[in-house]
This record gives sequence, structure tokens and C-alpha cells, in this order.
Amino acid sequence: MLSAHRIGICFSILSSLALGQLQTFSPPGQNKITYSINIPDQTASSGSGPIFIQLKSTTIDIEWFAFGEGTRMQGSNIFLVYGNGNGNNVTVSPRLGGAYVEPLYNSKAQVTLLDGSGISNGTVTANIRCDNCITWSGGKEDVTSSSTSWVWAVKYGKLIKSDSVSATISQHDVSGLASVNLQAATGGNTGNPFITTSSDSSVPSASSASSTSPASSNPSSSGSSQPVVTTFSTQSTDRKRIAHAAIMIIVMVVLFPSFALGIHLLPSSWAVVLHGWLQVFTLALTIAGFALGISLSINLYPVTGSSYHQIIGIIVVSCLTLFQPAMGLLQHRYWCKNEKKGLFAYLHRWLGRTMIALGIVNAGLGFRYTGIGSTMAPKGAVIAYGVVAGIVGLGYILTLGFLARRRRHARPT
Ligand code: HEM
Ligand SMILES: *[C@@H]1O[C@H](CO)[C@@H](O)[C@H](O)[C@H]1NC(C)=O
Ligand SMILES: *[C@@H]1O[C@H](CO)[C@@H](O)[C@H](O)[C@H]1NC(C)=O
Repeated sequence: MLSAHRIGICFSILSSLALGQLQTFSPPGQNKITYSINIPDQTASSGSGPIFIQLKSTTIDIEWFAFGEGTRMQGSNIFLVYGNGNGNNVTVSPRLGGAYVEPLYNSKAQVTLLDGSGISNGTVTANIRCDNCITWSGGKEDVTSSSTSWVWAVKYGKLIKSDSVSATISQHDVSGLASVNLQAATGGNTGNPFITTSSDSSVPSASSASSTSPASSNPSSSGSSQPVVTTFSTQSTDRKRIAHAAIMIIVMVVLFPSFALGIHLLPSSWAVVLHGWLQVFTLALTIAGFALGISLSINLYPVTGSSYHQIIGIIVVSCLTLFQPAMGLLQHRYWCKNEKKGLFAYLHRWLGRTMIALGIVNAGLGFRYTGIGSTMAPKGAVIAYGVVAGIVGLGYILTLGFLARRRRHARPT
């Protein structure tokens, strides 16, 4: 598990230009798309000022692509790029990530499209300066941090051509998070860091892009400054995430508790056998949901680490798998021989109850991950889940109490 998280990491340093230090990366599997960031020295030291961002695609078979500051789509400060009306340059549309809707145009962002931007030769380039992107409504960027979180997304298709900064877009095909070392992206003055003042053209151009600072002539050392990029959301991970959540909620909140109570409620000649088979079936579903969870965790690991949800989930599923059926069966055999409860009955009963309760709580903890990627549980879902889980727990206890009372009353003296 600990080493498995590496599978989800993939990065590549593509270029470091002379003027100002750049952190550049390509999301995993998207090698035609590159994103770059530069923080001018002055912005880093004063904590305010411009930052530079480049979005580049070496294919024009994209409807749009985007890059933004934030740990998830919701609340992030996004730069969305598509073609302009003529199709020879780009439109940069600053947007704020919303919860369920496409990100909406953010009129407060002061973004400027710089030299070197354009669409030519099958390449789409947007060189962007943002003058107020250190804080935005919904977040704040720590420009001196060695690990900052960014969101990216791409929609493949036919390039949108629009001069409007609020063009309607359709949902991305792929999206994810990148962890970027902004210390390694710091350097240079507040000039455009993306124009290639390549060393072979010895004649200085008319532009005032002078690079006299000795530090800025060193390309960033790429050894320690690689951004960690993780793909969070493709259609397949979205489907996995929804399936994992749905299966786990149904088994923990509905099936396990119902079939557990079933042992008392079903006609007694059938109860144990039915309970046993139904729980084994539920356990099979649980293991399927668990496998999906493991696969998602490998993908999520670089950003979330393994937190309570994963650890509790592993404990619950392994206890249920390893001990419950065996102890249930042992008790059943004991009962067939001795006509009474043995130790296994109590172990099976209390481990079962404990694990189901933990499982219900843990499914609730899973809502923490909603909104990472493009699936988002509706706002009320967490509360609704809590209420339903509470009702199930209370209902379980009340049913047991009621059954115990009935048994006491029914017992002839
Ligand atoms: C993952 C699978 C299983 C789970 C989660 C589970 C869960 C439970 C729970 C929670 C109870 C106690 C109900 C209460 O609250 O009073 C229970 C009782 C029982 N289960 Fe299971 N069970 C599982 C599989 C099995 C299997 C395979 C058998 C084998 C036939 C079995 C046999 C029994 C028996 C005999 C009892 C009654 C024990 C008692 O007197 O309390 N269970 N089970
Ligand atoms: C695109 O627009 C920017 C900003 O106006 C400009 O600097 C750049 O030269 C333009 N690119 C092309 C190819 O026209
Ligand atoms: C266009 O691309 C070709 C091959 O990729 C390259 O040789 C050429 O210099 C490019 N032209 C421009 C204007 O960038």
C-alpha cells in the first residue's frame, strides 16, 4: 500500500527557460498538454503582485483546457482557455469553480494575455499574467510554499471559437490535481517569462526582455523540484467513486443490519441458514466495493495520504471477511451439537455489531472525498446520510430491545 501510491505519480519536467524559473508539467497520459507557473521574485518576497501561468496544447483537438489554483474544483481560481472568434488567438476566461455547475466567469480576476500567445502550427498557447491571484474569493495561494495544490482539466473535441469570456462549456473528459513546488517556480522580474529569448539568437530583440540578473540565467534545478501530478478524475474513476460509495452505503446501512436482525426475525427454522447465506452475499458485495476503494486510494494517495477512512475501512472489511463467517459457522455447529450458545455466538454477535457500526460511521467519513474529481455529492447528502444512519442505528437497538422484551414476556414461568 505504501509503495503503491507511487503508481499514481507521474511527472515530467519539460523545459526551464532562462528568464525566471518555471515549473512545467504534463498531466499523466496527457503529453500534449503542458502547464507552467512562474512566480516573480518580487511577488514571492512581498506576498503580492503578479504571477505567470502558461497553458499550452500541441493539439488543437481540444474544446478547451484549464488550469487553476485550489485543492478541488469547488472554490478554485481557474484560467479557462479556448480559441478566440477568429481562431488565431486564444480567449482566457477566468472562472471560479462551483459545486455542481460549470465554473462561472469571475469578473474580479485581473488577467492579461501576453506576447507569445496564439494558435498556430497546431499549437495553442496562452501566456497569462494575473495581477490579483494571490487571494481570491474562496482561497489563497501561498507563493512561498514548496507544495501547492492546482487543478487542471481538459475537454477534447473541436476547439471552441469565441471572444466571450463566459462561453458555455461542456464537462471535461479528464481532470486532476497537481502539487507544485512554487519555491522552484520563483525567479525573474515581472516581465513575461514565456518568450523564448533563445541563446542562439544573439541579436537582442526590440522587447525589453533583458536578463542581467545572474540567478535568472540558471535554469531551475529540476532534481528536487518536480511537481507531483495525480489524475483524479477520468470518467472511469468517477464511475468507480460512485460505485464504491453506493455499494458501501447500501451494504453497511441496509443489508448487513437487516440480515443481522433477520436472524431474530425470520421464521426460526430458516433463520440461521438464510442469515448465513445473505450475509455471505453481502460480504461479497462489500469486497467488490472494497476493491474499488483500494483502486481509488492508490490514485488519491499522493494528495490525501492514507487517512482514517482508508484505515477504518481496511479494519472493518478484514474483520468481517476473516472472522464473521467462520465464527458464525462455528457457533452454528456448536449449537447443532449442544443446543446452546457458545463463546463464538458472543464473539460473532459483538464483532458483527461493532464492525457494522464502524462501517456506517466510516461511510460517513467517505463523504470527505466528495468533490475531489468531478463527482460531487449534493450538499444535503452528508446530513441526510447522518440522519438515515442514526435512524438505522436506533432502529436496530430498539428492535433488539423489543425482541428481548417479547422473549421475556413469552417465557413461561
Ligand atoms: C459477514 C458476514 C456476517 C455478518 C456481518 C454477520 C453479522 C451478525 C450479527 C451482527 C449478528 C447478531 C445480531 C444481533 O445483533 O443480535 C449475527 C448473529 C448470528 N449469525 Fe451472523 N453474520 C455474518 C455471517 C454469518 C454466517 C456465515 C453464519 C453461519 C451460519 C452466521 C450465523 C449467525 C448466528 C448463528 C447468529 C446468532 C448468534 C447469536 O446468538 O447472537 N452469521 N450475525
Ligand atoms: C494574441 O494576443 C496577445 C494579446 O493581445 C498578443 O500579444 C499576441 O501577439 C497575439 N497572438 C497572435 C498570434 O496574434
Ligand atoms: C511549425 O511546425 C513545424 C514542424 O513541427 C516546424 O518546422 C515549423 O518551424 C513550425 N513553424 C512555426 C511558425 O512555428
